[in-house]
Amino acid sequence: MKSLIQKKFNELFGNDGEFFKSAGRINLIGEHTDYNGGYVFPGAIDKCILAEIALNGSEKVKVFSIDCDEYVEFGLNEEDKPDQSWACYIFGVCRETIKRGGKVAGFNAVFAGNVPLGAGLSSSAALESTFAYAINELNGNGIDLFELAKIGQSTEHNYCGVKCGIMDQFASCFGKAGCLIRLNCKTLEYKYFPFDPEAAGYKLVLIDSCVKHELASSAYNKRRESCENAAAAIRKNHPEVEFLSDAKRLWLEEVRQEISQEDFLRAEYVIGEVQRVLDVCDALERNDYETAGEMMYQTHFGMSHLYEVSCEELDFLNKLARKMDVSGSRVMGGGFGGCTINLVKEELYQPFIDAAVEQFTARFGHAPKVYPVVISDGACRA
Ligand code: GLA
Repeated sequence: MKSLIQKKFNELFGNDGEFFKSAGRINLIGEHTDYNGGYVFPGAIDKCILAEIALNGSEKVKVFSIDCDEYVEFGLNEEDKPDQSWACYIFGVCRETIKRGGKVAGFNAVFAGNVPLGAGLSSSAALESTFAYAINELNGNGIDLFELAKIGQSTEHNYCGVKCGIMDQFASCFGKAGCLIRLNCKTLEYKYFPFDPEAAGYKLVLIDSCVKHELASSAYNKRRESCENAAAAIRKNHPEVEFLSDAKRLWLEEVRQEISQEDFLRAEYVIGEVQRVLDVCDALERNDYETAGEMMYQTHFGMSHLYEVSCEELDFLNKLARKMDVSGSRVMGGGFGGCTINLVKEELYQPFIDAAVEQFTARFGHAPKVYPVVISDGACRA
């Protein structure tokens, strides 16, 4: 990937730049909890966006995407927003840096990536974090890593129409090889947990349904609204509830008649999920992978029946995992397609993958993709 980028950069701009990269992520548990002020438990993976970048002495950004085989140029003012959706991520990062008082001089860039798109592995956060990190370094802005993650998140909110939480950009920026990170999304306190399932005889594997739902971002925003409705109703009785994650299950019960059935189910899922993250962390500290895996099944149930962000293909993969005695399995990321994440005993690893590929293909007419997971570093110079 690096030599391809280098060649294209030289061809387009006639010189060399500096390399930066940032990673996609997995999340062991804690889904749709981030924008509710709850816990998440992600880690960066060995799939990344890699970019070569150099300041160009102009007020323009000139970028080539190798994967889209497309060149785009844009200015740095609000009205210069490009038409191409991939370029909007980079434009958004520039604008959000400027809004925070950072300097953004014009630059040339060529980038490529191997984070599968639409698989729930946060390719967009990897793109945002790569550029947020690079722009910060090249302009000497001294913005801290948390704020760089927030630059990516605000890019999604203000330039891409997704009211996401902080998990993806956080993992992409803060990832550390061999570690998952438990983040409290309310206080932003975080803790690295060394994560080595293989030492206990387990492996993680992602099975990508290759299903992508067109309306995923509006459905995502709608889930968020439901949670805010539920939190607002609970807050009337319990003013200390700032986010839905502050609420107790009983407090949700008190407002059952005041909110829609849909909002109730969404909130029920979130309150359960926040607790499951803590339970999984406790279980892992005891090396109890079976309990952690069981929690993953509970999350899948909630995401499928209460939060309703699963789909037929993902439910099929989840059921198959259960049938084969896989220790844990669930839909990962925002949902509406993408991957299941599976915690599998070593001896079941290959048989499970073979069965998943064979049976999924027979049922849906296309093969799923299989990604082994390697927990890696986040944003850095490359
Ligand atoms: C997407 C969002 C994250 C998070 C997850 C669900 O990946 O970008 O902020 O909400 O969905 O956990």
